[in-house]
Amino acid sequence: EELAQKDKNIVLIGFMGVGKTTIGQHLAKKLDREFIDIDAQIEQKYGMPVTQIFKSVGEKEFRQMEKDYILNVCSDSKFKIISLGGGAFLQEEIKNICLSTSNVIYLNISWETWKRRLHLIIDSRPILQNKSMDEIEALFYTRQNSYSPNHASVNIDGLGFEEAADHIIHSLNL
Ligand code: S3P
Repeated sequence: EELAQKDKNIVLIGFMGVGKTTIGQHLAKKLDREFIDIDAQIEQKYGMPVTQIFKSVGEKEFRQMEKDYILNVCSDSKFKIISLGGGAFLQEEIKNICLSTSNVIYLNISWETWKRRLHLIIDSRPILQNKSMDEIEALFYTRQNSYSPNHASVNIDGLGFEEAADHIIHSLNL
């Protein structure tokens, strides 16, 4: 049966480095719910950071692992706060399970704002390495198509991470 809005998981999606993990942690604390970060779980399983996982087992295996974790977590939980990696919605199966089990929130940010944060994350994101600024910008816009529409989005330009969490809580009437 259809779960009430307040009983569903909250899944955060959006481009690399928008703050899915930090905002998710704030949400979990404010709502007193369990927080799960999918990338952190995969890193824990392999005992190495994502960049290293891409190098040693390859992106394909990472994507398979990402799908397995998300399908598992989403199918047997309610109430949780779940942060996905920014590439997760490239896989239709992931998108479908998230949309059917959870409140999916797309954290939307402008290219201008995002660009200013790039230096903070570039070394830890294999997808961004060896790319020109134009290529990164193109990726930014292509990825947006995988996130929207179908679900709620919160624009986080100019918001702090905690404020962003408050906006999400408000937008879900929680
Ligand atoms: C990726 C995003 C990363 C991580 C991996 C691939 C992507 O997660 O899953 O580096 O393809 O967009 P964040 O969105 O948390 O950076």
